[in-house]
Amino acid sequence: MIIAVDGPAAAGKGTIARALAKHFGFHFLDTGSLYRMVGLSALRAGGEPISARAAVAAAASLNPLAYSDEELRNEQVGSAASIAAAIPEVRTALLDFQRAFARKEPGAVLDGRDIGTVVCPEAQAKLFITASPEVRARRRQMELGSSDYESVLADIRARDDRDSKRATAPLVAAKDAVVLDTSEMDIEAAVLAAIRAAEARWVH
Ligand code: CDP
Repeated sequence: MIIAVDGPAAAGKGTIARALAKHFGFHFLDTGSLYRMVGLSALRAGGEPISARAAVAAAASLNPLAYSDEELRNEQVGSAASIAAAIPEVRTALLDFQRAFARKEPGAVLDGRDIGTVVCPEAQAKLFITASPEVRARRRQMELGSSDYESVLADIRARDDRDSKRATAPLVAAKDAVVLDTSEMDIEAAVLAAIRAAEARWVH
């Protein structure tokens, strides 16, 4: 059983995907963290702008133990991740790991940008979680404890743009995904709606 949760930055998909995994007793993989590890590793290797060579090398030999959550969750690493994520060799290098994870029993929830379209097109339930850029910038600003709303909003827009326009595995809702706009929802309501949407897919 696979649940694919895709969507743009700070739409709430991480929280929703984790809650779905807990609710159904499934394994959970935040695939964005893999791209963040690649971005951070390339930053460490050569600073900004990251080089494609460093990103491809990092993706080919990822060691998740070399990174802490804290250093992965900042916008500099998020931007480096989205630049690295546009390189086809980086995406290919991460594909087997994600697909093997998705096959875990009794089921898995993966969150990212291309889970329902590329990584697991066979997923039984696909959710596309979105919200307006302004709402997402407010949420990310709170999460980061940042005082500068305008620069957080600019980062989010730049990342949306890059993730949606890249040639390989762009950010787009799968044709059979349930689209959930969380702009007007608090997190409890969004989680409940996601659980209902996933269950509805299994029944039909
Ligand atoms: O948490 P947030 O939504 O800000 O980002 P993330 O899920 O940690 O992903 C960071 C970046 O990795 C994204 O902007 C994408 O460019 C890339 N990514 C991707 O291309 N494909 C995925 N399946 C997951 C993330």
